[in-house]
Amino acid sequence: MARHLITSAIPYINGIKHLGNLVGSQLPADLFARYQRARGHEVLFLCATDEHGTPAELAAAKAGKPVAEYCAEMHQVQARIAEGFRLSFDHFGRSSSPQNHRLTQHFAGVLADQGLIREVSETQMYSPTDGRFLPDRYIEGTCPNCGFDSARGDQCDNCTKQLDPVDLINPRSVISGATDLQMRETKHLYLRQSTMKDQLEQWIDTREGWPVLTTSIAKKWLNDGDGLQDRGITRDLDWGIPVKKGEEDWPGMEGKVFYVWFDAPIEYIACAQEWVDAGKGSDWERWWRTDRGAEDVTYTQFMGKDNVPFHTLSFPATILGSGEPWKLVDYIKSFNYLNYDGGQFSTSRGRGVFMDQALEILPPDYWRWWLLSHAPESSDSEFTWENFQTSVNKDLADVLGNFASRVTKFCRSKFGEVVPEGGSLGPREAQLIADLTTKIRDYEEHMSQAEVRKSASALRAAWVLGNEYLQEAAPWSTFKTDPEQAAAQIRLALNLIRLYAVISEPFIPDAAAALLDALAVTDRSWPADLDTALQILPAGHGFTVPEVTFRKITDEEREDWQARFAGNR
Ligand code: MF3
Ligand code: ZN
Repeated sequence: MARHLITSAIPYINGIKHLGNLVGSQLPADLFARYQRARGHEVLFLCATDEHGTPAELAAAKAGKPVAEYCAEMHQVQARIAEGFRLSFDHFGRSSSPQNHRLTQHFAGVLADQGLIREVSETQMYSPTDGRFLPDRYIEGTCPNCGFDSARGDQCDNCTKQLDPVDLINPRSVISGATDLQMRETKHLYLRQSTMKDQLEQWIDTREGWPVLTTSIAKKWLNDGDGLQDRGITRDLDWGIPVKKGEEDWPGMEGKVFYVWFDAPIEYIACAQEWVDAGKGSDWERWWRTDRGAEDVTYTQFMGKDNVPFHTLSFPATILGSGEPWKLVDYIKSFNYLNYDGGQFSTSRGRGVFMDQALEILPPDYWRWWLLSHAPESSDSEFTWENFQTSVNKDLADVLGNFASRVTKFCRSKFGEVVPEGGSLGPREAQLIADLTTKIRDYEEHMSQAEVRKSASALRAAWVLGNEYLQEAAPWSTFKTDPEQAAAQIRLALNLIRLYAVISEPFIPDAAAALLDALAVTDRSWPADLDTALQILPAGHGFTVPEVTFRKITDEEREDWQARFAGNR
């Protein structure tokens, strides 16, 4: 039994995520976790909310709530939606947890002991009216590049130019609108990543079989232009993890917090501690400390491509730099973007489907199937309602759902709601078993490599094989001349429903559970040998005809939804 540590990039706390966010990390991570569990491996699957930084502060201010209260509420909201999509986290933690406070401060302390932190004095915008320093997003002004009058301190949304707050013309505070901003001296901590370039490059070069998307982004950051620069890991904000050196105060750092991208990945570790402290596990160190057993762990991370630099360079710099025996990631699976109906998802314009809305209109399996089978792996992909309708109606309703319903209903009408006895399997059945074996072995191969689309195709192909068999064997005709043979065919087909439920569970867990329930079987064992796996339901075993597994999406619904989610709310 292998042990798999699996993490999904932790979603920002500010607001409900859209389907593009879901398919870029949490959903494929869940697919992989469910698969490894189904194969009998030990899995620790972790995710959390990313609660610090200016976006959290700004969203709380907009909601008119104290930031701690806002985060606590939004964490609950996101946790509920995650359950709605059946994301099977062993723990859904919070980067603002006491565990993460302690661990982040610990890392800063050991990095300082290793000589990897330097203090830098810099000048920053200070607002006397607001009584605070204003980081990037708290300042707006006119873009020096294009003249757009609401450019943010870090970037102009109109021309996308990266900016420094001091570049802005007529800068003003986002909080109060104050324009009497001053440049003031402030001290910050920098992680000396530049000294670790060779070590990081060597580590990346020795990673085997990493996706091209992952390594090319990492290499670009390592070698392009300025290369790997030292990185500021503190900010002048109230909300966040107070800067400390382990448990001690850090002179000169009073009132400052760690930068959100410093503490967020550390939450992957702290989350395992939260899992233990919540009474769900007993030993987090055997997952995270290589001196406590974690050298046997295979650690896979899932994320969107914009997160890759932080996971290939910054977080490994924290881990390696600490000089402590923490587990490093073994495999980074990254995704491109999902677009929405000819454009981008837009949170501000309400364009596209958000996670809560998706669950209001259809059950989770419909979304899981479409999103995973169209995951933006080798390039960006696009959600269109036509494509969604076609996939659901064809793959789920016509192929899988129809198979289950035809077989069980035919059996009920001719043999009753029990697995029929008699007859024997012939060459057509042997062929089916051989073809299925090939497909399922392909499926396993792709699933174990987290090749999401290829896995979906192999699974769909396995469903299709069953349909083709049923069409050719035509038990409804056989029955008229040779009821015994029809019984053997139906016995096989009923067993095939069980098999489909088991292997499809990582994609469509609710449908899988409903099918197994209808078949009155609890045996979820993964099919090692197909001959054996297709005899698990013996003659005489009672079942019930399942409810409609998947319904079709009508043209009317499609048009209605298309209009409803077009944006401009
Ligand atoms: N919150 C970030 C995002 O949504 C991801 C953080 S991942 C972690 O893009 F590594 F920092 F945890
Ligand atoms: Zn601009």
